Amino acid sequence: MSELSASPTPSSPTPRANAKPARLVLRAAAAIVVAALGFCAYAAAFPADVPEKVGEVVENLTGANPHPVVLQRLPVAPLSAMAQLGKQLFFDPTLSASGRQSCASCHSPDHAYGPPNGLDVQKGGLAMTQQGYRPPPSLMYLYRQPNFSIGPDAGENDDAPTVAQQASAAANVVKSQKTAGGASTSVEMVPQGGLFWDGRADTLQQQAYGPLLNPVEMANTSVDTVADKLKNAPYAKRFTELFGSRIFDDRKLTVAEAMFAISRYQVEDPSFHPYNSKYDRWLEGRAHLSQAELHGLRLFNDPDKANCAGCHLSKPGKDGLPPMFTDYQYEALGVPRNTKLAQNKDPKFFDLGVCGPFRSDFKDQTQYCGMFLTPTLRNSSTRTVFFHNGIYHNLDDVMAFYNERNTDPGKFYPHGADGKIDKYNDIPPQFQKNVDVTDAPFDRKFGDKPAMTADEIRDIEAFLKTLNDDPPASN
Ligand code: HEC
Ligand code: HEC
Repeated sequence: MSELSASPTPSSPTPRANAKPARLVLRAAAAIVVAALGFCAYAAAFPADVPEKVGEVVENLTGANPHPVVLQRLPVAPLSAMAQLGKQLFFDPTLSASGRQSCASCHSPDHAYGPPNGLDVQKGGLAMTQQGYRPPPSLMYLYRQPNFSIGPDAGENDDAPTVAQQASAAANVVKSQKTAGGASTSVEMVPQGGLFWDGRADTLQQQAYGPLLNPVEMANTSVDTVADKLKNAPYAKRFTELFGSRIFDDRKLTVAEAMFAISRYQVEDPSFHPYNSKYDRWLEGRAHLSQAELHGLRLFNDPDKANCAGCHLSKPGKDGLPPMFTDYQYEALGVPRNTKLAQNKDPKFFDLGVCGPFRSDFKDQTQYCGMFLTPTLRNSSTRTVFFHNGIYHNLDDVMAFYNERNTDPGKFYPHGADGKIDKYNDIPPQFQKNVDVTDAPFDRKFGDKPAMTADEIRDIEAFLKTLNDDPPASN
C-alpha cells in the first residue's frame, strides 16, 4: 500500500516517473503468476490434498486426477507348474483336428487375447474352412467374471432357487433403468455373469472344452481323441510329474486336468491382467489425460449424453478393484443382422444369446431373447471386430450405431419388402420388445437430435484408447 500511495501525482508527469507504476503492476502480476503456478504444481503433485472445486480446476488445467486411488492388482509371482503346462497347451496347434489351430490362433496375445484379424468370425474345423458363429472375445481380465446368475445374488444361501426358477420369477419384472453413476431404479432381475457371449459356461476350465470339441473351431470329435494327443505330446512327461504316473489311464481325467491347467495359465499369467492402461495410471495419479480424453471420459460418464458407464462401469470399486468397464449384465441392443455369416443364410436362424440356440436352458424364457453379455471395453479399441455377430469393424461405426440407432435407423437397417425400415432385423418381431430403448443414448426417438455430436464422439473414442494396456513385453 505504502509503495502505491508513493506513486507520482498526475501533476508531475515525466516519462520516467510514469514507468514506475507500470513496473509495479508488472511485478504484482508476476507475483500472482508465480503463486498460481506454484499452486498448480503443488495441486498437480498432490491432487488429493486440494478441495473438490479446486480439484476440478486442476483436472481441467492439467488433466491430472484430483482424487487418485490405490488400485488392487493380483500379486505377480512366477507361474506355477500347472500354469506353465497350461501355457504350453494354450499355444499348441496339434490339439486341433487341423493341426493348425491353437487357443492363441483366435485369442492372440498380441491382440489383447482377441482375434488377430478383422474377420467377422474366425474360421476353423478340420480343413480350417468352416466359419465360426461369433467373434472371439478378449480373454483378458476373465478371472473377475462372476458365475452366471439371474436377479439378486443368491450368495451362500443353501436354499437358493435354481437359475430357472429365478428366471420365471423375473419374467414379469419391469426392466430397471441403467444410468451412469446412478443407483438402479428397481431390484435387478437380469441375467449376469458367465463366460461366452451368452454366459453358458461358468468356469474357465469348463469353458475350454467348448473350442476343443466345437466342429467349427478346433474340431476334435471326442474327449478321448484329445486325451490321446496329450499322451503323445512332447510335454506328456509334465502330466505324469504333476498328476501321477497313471494319469493317462483315465482319459476324461487327463483332459479335465489339461483344461484346469489352461485356466490356471489365464488366471496366473500377468499378461492377462496387467492394469497398466493410461486410464489405470490416471486413476492412480500417475498420468495426465489430454483435454480430448478428459472430455471423452466426462461424456462417457454423463447419464444424459453417452451414458456408456451405465453398463460399462468406469469407477474403481471401494475395495480398490480397478473398474472392469462392464457390469457383467446382459442387454439386447438390437445390432443389425450380419448377412455375411454362414448361419444367417437361413432366414429362420436367429442367434438370440441367452435364450438360445447355443444354450438351451432358457429357450422358454423369451424375455431374454436377443440379450448378450456386456463386454469389457478394456483394450476394445485394439479390436477390429465388434459386437456378438461381428457386424462392425471400427469404433466410428459402433459409435454411430449407439448415437443414431433410434434417431435415424435407416442408416443401419435394410428396408423390408413393404418399404419400411426393418429395424432390429436380427431379432424376430415378437421379441423386439426386449431391445433397450430406455437407457441413454438409446432413449432418443426417431427424428430427435442424437445424444452426441461428431466432436463428442471423437473425444469418447480418444478416451476409449486410454483403456488399452501396454502390449506384453514378450510372450
Ligand atoms: C476358432 C477360434 C477359436 C479357438 C481356436 C478358440 N476360441 Fe475361445 N472363443 C472363440 C469364440 C468365437 C468365442 C465366443 C463364443 C461364444 O460366445 O459362443 C470364444 C470364447 C472363449 C472364452 C470366453 C470368453 C468370454 O469373454 O466369455 C474363453 C475363456 C475362451 N474362448 C478360451 C479359449 C481356449 C482356452 C481355447 C483353446 C482350448 C480357445 N478359446 C480356442 C473362438 C475360439
Ligand atoms: C444399456 C447398456 C449399454 C450401454 C449404455 C452402452 N453399452 Fe456398449 N455394449 C453393451 C452390450 C450389451 C454390448 C454387446 C452387445 C452385442 O454384441 O449384441 C456392448 C458392446 C459394446 C462394444 C463392442 C465391444 C466388443 O468387444 O465387441 C463397444 C465398443 C461398446 N459397447 C462401447 C460403448 C460405448 C462407447 C457406449 C457409450 C456411447 C456404450 N457402449 C454404451 C451394453 C451397453
